[in-house]
Amino acid sequence: MKEIDGSGFVVFENVKKIYRTGEVEIEALHDVNFQIGQGEFCVIVGASGAGKTTILNILGGMDTLSEGKVLLDGKEISAFGKRQLTAYRRYEVGFVFQFYNLVQNLTALENVELAAQICREPLDAAGEVLEAVGLGERKQNFPAQLSGGEQQRVAIARALAKNPKLLLCDEPTGALDYRTGKAVLGLLQNTCRETGKTVVVITHNSALCAMADRVITVKSGTVVDMRTNENPRNVEDIEW
Ligand SMILES: Nc1ncnc2c1ncn2[C@@H]1O[C@H](COP(=O)(O)OP(=O)(O)OP(=O)(O)O)[C@@H](O)[C@H]1O
Ligand SMILES: [Mg+2]
Repeated sequence: MKEIDGSGFVVFENVKKIYRTGEVEIEALHDVNFQIGQGEFCVIVGASGAGKTTILNILGGMDTLSEGKVLLDGKEISAFGKRQLTAYRRYEVGFVFQFYNLVQNLTALENVELAAQICREPLDAAGEVLEAVGLGERKQNFPAQLSGGEQQRVAIARALAKNPKLLLCDEPTGALDYRTGKAVLGLLQNTCRETGKTVVVITHNSALCAMADRVITVKSGTVVDMRTNENPRNVEDIEW
């Protein structure tokens, strides 16, 4: 396993997360240590219940930790208060979820514009971001008029339009068929390569490790392995 020297773009240091429901305590994470470099395509892999979403939610400022430290670009997110976390989620992080989470009564273009409007330095034209994800012809369509893969492209465009420091994707292909899922992963990989954005993708599919610059393996609430790929493969060249 690689050494953690605290100089990464993303750093998790001895992170512990306990969920309390009444008298019951569930330790979702313990002794979680890893780092991710700026501009890397990182895959977090592990079985159901391993703690992947908990890690992503803490990194995205959607949940807080019980112990330890999380840093992004030298700033300690885990020390942020509520208002700072709101600003952090709004300005610094783009999210892509398994079930797209688009606003149903807004068009593709309006969904992307909505995200761009609340940002400090959004990408200029929502329409151009949609073109970049291959949906130039579908801007005026509502989510219900688009396929699952197209809706996920809108969700990716929406996240990118915020011009975030970090793109966090939780099982982004979980609801898609094999071919469509591959295309969406290709889009994420190209986005990472072409824009230099740091992209984190959660999956339970270990075949995807081959496409990552960095692979973090989570098991029973902790990181059991972290490795880098010198020659990550194009997702089109991976079969599973
Ligand atoms: N809000 C919560 N309250 C109580 N326990 C929780 C909560 N969220 C997650 N957990 C527990 O924490 C552990 C880790 O859950 P997490 O959602 O991070 O797993 P995961 O790796 O994302 O799994 P999956 O692949 O199924 O999405 C599980 O045991 C889960 O039941
Ligand atoms: Mg999960």
